[in-house]
Amino acid sequence: MSDTAIAGRTVAESRVQLVQFMRPEHANALGNVHGGEIMKLVDEAGALAAMRHARTAVVTVAMDSMTFTEPIRIGALLTVSAELTYVGNTSMEARVEVIAENPITGERKHTNTAYLVYVALDESGRPKRVPPLIATTEEERARLAEGAARQAERKRRRAAASVRASAESD
Ligand SMILES: CC(C)(COP(=O)(O)OP(=O)(O)OC[C@H]1O[C@@H](n2cnc3c(N)ncnc32)[C@H](O)[C@@H]1OP(=O)(O)O)[C@@H](O)C(=O)NCCC(=O)NCCS
Repeated sequence: MSDTAIAGRTVAESRVQLVQFMRPEHANALGNVHGGEIMKLVDEAGALAAMRHARTAVVTVAMDSMTFTEPIRIGALLTVSAELTYVGNTSMEARVEVIAENPITGERKHTNTAYLVYVALDESGRPKRVPPLIATTEEERARLAEGAARQAERKRRRAAASVRASAESD
């Protein structure tokens, strides 16, 4: 990895929105939207935000828990919004928010917020350094601090899992 300083990019530069109409092929056995469809869109939106920031290929390495408090109906218009909240050396955390709208009544419901971590890859598939993230508003600065804390906790859990795995293999 090169030590040359890389110019930072703002949170706004990473921001991306996917809009998808939920059709019958997105249904589960109960006739509501399959949770996996939402997770796929969330991952795609987060990955696009990370790609916009890093301008390289990225892979997902972690997705924090996602809670579905109520079903999303077929016929809903989903808006999935993503932006970066934190970057490390090669990793990037994205915040992804899902809004479901009934296009007939106009009623909009916030259904999920998820945090995912991506790693930028170079041409050989190795982790690649990413530009620093520039937070320009109070909210972005607060999210950056929260993202740093979440990533520190993920690293702690990863290190603990690695210690457990090597103890089990001894
Ligand atoms: C991405 C990959 C190449 C990184 O390799 P690695 O040996 O883990 O590399 P590192 O340990 O240097 O980690 C790279 C970065 O990812 C972060 N990271 C790795 N695993 C993580 C996890 N579970 N949670 C959060 N961050 C993680 C590290 O903290 C590091 O961040 P930093 O550079 O900003 O400090 C490797 O983990 C991989 O190929 N994973 C599979 C990805 C994939 O295929 N995803 C799709 C699933 S179908």
